Amino acid sequence: MQVDFRSDTVTQPTEAMKDFMYNAPLGDDVFGEDPSISELEMETANRFNHEAGLFCPSGTMTNQIALAVHTRPREEVICHKNSHIYLYEGGGPAFLSSVSLRLLEGDMGRISAEAVEENINPENVHFPRTRLVSLENTMNKGGGSCYDLEEIKKIRSITQKHGLFLHLDGARVFNACLAKGYSTQDLGKEFDSISICFSKGLGAPVGSVLVGSRAFIHEARRVRKVLGGGMRQGGILASAALYALNHHVDRLADDHRRAKEMEATLKNCSWIQSIYPVETNIIIFEVMAPQNGAGIIEQLAALGIRCAGFGKMHVRFVYHLDVSEEQHQFAMNVIQNFQPQ
Ligand SMILES: Cc1ncc(COP(=O)(O)O)c(C=O)c1O
Repeated sequence: MQVDFRSDTVTQPTEAMKDFMYNAPLGDDVFGEDPSISELEMETANRFNHEAGLFCPSGTMTNQIALAVHTRPREEVICHKNSHIYLYEGGGPAFLSSVSLRLLEGDMGRISAEAVEENINPENVHFPRTRLVSLENTMNKGGGSCYDLEEIKKIRSITQKHGLFLHLDGARVFNACLAKGYSTQDLGKEFDSISICFSKGLGAPVGSVLVGSRAFIHEARRVRKVLGGGMRQGGILASAALYALNHHVDRLADDHRRAKEMEATLKNCSWIQSIYPVETNIIIFEVMAPQNGAGIIEQLAALGIRCAGFGKMHVRFVYHLDVSEEQHQFAMNVIQNFQPQ
């Protein structure tokens, strides 16, 4: 048996999803005529208490469009030093928006309201003007950690006090809502924009939606066009996301439960130094020397378990739609009996 824990992006569309895609009504979305894209955009915006949505091929594109619309060149964006927008989007903020990033420390990838306020630049020609705060929820590099709604509200009141915009990289926002027990509506209304991915735990092959006000999305649509993200009969893809939205949100609870069970199993392993607290579907652990991440990954792969490295000593497991209960039990059994060479 093989289990692929490398990422929740490795899922294959289900047969039911493919049937839905096959039958999706389509049109030219650059003319605003694709009913499937329009439905996905509206449905996603409604769920997060926003006026409008924009379907894009990737979460990188939705994040970078948000930055480009909220900021002007030479301004500054506050985010955690391990944010996806900083580490894994190819230098997009510098290249596409000509902004600097103010990188904050913070527990498990979360930044605090106090730290945000301390890092807003005063009005002075020496400093870039602070314009935007960007949060990530769940936080990938924080091991799928989530924000409390209270902390987000505190950050929101600081951004409002200083006239800043607040963006959410919500690649796994449904996981955060489930784990923390807040609704997408309550979370959504705290942000000026949210990027929501359908190709992670929700299991669609492609696609993210950016939500915000009507005026914000109008501008975002212009930036998407420049980036080449205006698609024609893209409803064939949007329909997969629509299917995921209606069928794959509740099942995220299975991923969370299995991740907790795997965490308990890993805690008994003598070759593991430490494990980040598991809150959602991501598990990150530190391997104990003289082992290292690459060595453990190679040995586990030989036993049928594929996982990913996160730096020299860290390894990541991610639960998702294509890890069945049977595969989960198999993987826990392999881990229980595993003795690294
Ligand atoms: C937290 C986070 N944000 C954004 C993205 C970007 O998504 P995409 O791969 O669709 O560009 C990812 C991708 O893994 C992610 O984990």
